[in-house]
Amino acid sequence: MMKYNQNAPTLSLGYDLDLLERGEKSKIMLNLSRSQNTHLLCIGQSGSGKSYSLISYLSKLSLAEPQGEILFADFKGEFEWLSGCPRYFPYKNAYNAVEIAYNMLSARLSGDDVSENPLTFIFDEYVSAILSQTAEDKKAAALTMSKISEILLMGRACGRASVRFWCFTQRCDSLVFPVGSREQFGGAVIALGMVSKEAKQMMFSDFTEDFKGRILGRGEGRVILNGSTLRHVKIGQINTDKAQALCKAALLKPL
Ligand SMILES: Nc1ncnc2c1ncn2[C@@H]1O[C@H](COP(=O)(O)OP(=O)(O)OP(=O)(O)O)[C@@H](O)[C@H]1O
Ligand SMILES: [Mg+2]
Repeated sequence: MMKYNQNAPTLSLGYDLDLLERGEKSKIMLNLSRSQNTHLLCIGQSGSGKSYSLISYLSKLSLAEPQGEILFADFKGEFEWLSGCPRYFPYKNAYNAVEIAYNMLSARLSGDDVSENPLTFIFDEYVSAILSQTAEDKKAAALTMSKISEILLMGRACGRASVRFWCFTQRCDSLVFPVGSREQFGGAVIALGMVSKEAKQMMFSDFTEDFKGRILGRGEGRVILNGSTLRHVKIGQINTDKAQALCKAALLKPL
């Protein structure tokens, strides 16, 4: 039997909403161990709380894995307070971040990089970024998507430390998320607030019953952990100043 590692790093995705409604505070935890799938997809319409959750998760990650490395692509340039951080890639620099993350993965796979530090590549507004690149240069967009697929596929198998992709997106598009994408993310799939018909079909086809009569608002969502059952989550409030300072410190580390 595999020994339970009490020291395995974990990350709270928020409170179990159903238990919270019954007065019990219990967190939904993502296991960050290398042996686990730790990719994450967060979808939600505008204002559902994606960027808020992103700050919450990024700041918690920096505490859970102080030795870890983070890259953050912000296609909408929403997080201007991170300007000047070498690991922050706003607007079209987001595409450079894909290149950098992919090269880091390749170096770890080939053994050129024997780093033991997990790398987390976080992308806000991924689908918008791909659709925009597709409109400008189809080939370049196909290359970006293939690099992300490689990270999703190989990120766990590389060397001593994993490379994971955390994707936050408003839009859901079958060009970017073909059939099987939910399995690719595997670690955690989160849908905040109201879920569009396409998103339901693409990511929650096994759980359509849950969408009948259950309305979730800002900062609330549905989570599928490791492809198993669906749970409801409430993203707890953050201390914004403290969380922003932690994000900044993580992204100020030299590249
Ligand atoms: N869990 C939460 N608790 C408290 N306030 C929240 C929470 N989630 C979001 N908010 C607030 O709701 C507003 C919208 O959230 P946010 O910017 O994260 O949405 P978004 O999904 O990123 O939207 P967009 O797609 O337009 O970027 C913000 O003012 C944010 O502070
Ligand atoms: Mg946002």
